[in-house]
Amino acid sequence: MPVQEKRGGTEPVTRRDFIYVATGAVAFVGTCAVVWPLISQMRPDAETIAAGAPIDVDVGSLPSGGQMIVKWRGHPIFVVNRPAAALATLQTSAVIGELADPDSKIMQQPEYAANWHRSVKPEFAVLVGVCTHLGCIPLYEPAKDEQGPGWLGGWFCPCHGSKYDLAGRVFKGVPAPYNLPVPPYRFVTDRILRIGENPPGVNFGIESVVQV
Ligand code: FES
Repeated sequence: MPVQEKRGGTEPVTRRDFIYVATGAVAFVGTCAVVWPLISQMRPDAETIAAGAPIDVDVGSLPSGGQMIVKWRGHPIFVVNRPAAALATLQTSAVIGELADPDSKIMQQPEYAANWHRSVKPEFAVLVGVCTHLGCIPLYEPAKDEQGPGWLGGWFCPCHGSKYDLAGRVFKGVPAPYNLPVPPYRFVTDRILRIGENPPGVNFGIESVVQV
């Protein structure tokens, strides 16, 4: 259960904040009309929003291949523990050739996540789970061929069919124009991820991305 001790200046993640941990596609289906109320339910209190308080998440119990969704500033944040096979797909030329912005050149992430895995630690993806088309919450579909032959895993947005790979990079030819944003975050210990706070010496705010 992702309930952590409160750390200086941060908000603990409680059961209320924890949406799910899964190894496959679960929950969050339907159209924007049904998704936005879900987001609304996930909002932290006004004080927390105003403060933009970071949250601590224990990823130590997240199984390999699993996804956890927590909320931060009212956004669903996807945290995925990517196994080696998933990481290998990120460098597969067949996938890279299908991506709109494979090198993360568009400002949708801090500089420390503008790498091939779009993250601080290769195994952990940390992404704002809001489709850059019209804001639905994409479904986690990590299994091969889940979206048809050649699919190597990623997220699928059922609203209008946008697809993202396992680094949140959007595919060409779908309605969504940009990669999923990467929020500011850092690891404060091997297993505690702090969302909303950059590594020391870095100044990056989620408001500086092109679209969230
Ligand atoms: S909102 Fe995701 S494809 Fe339209």
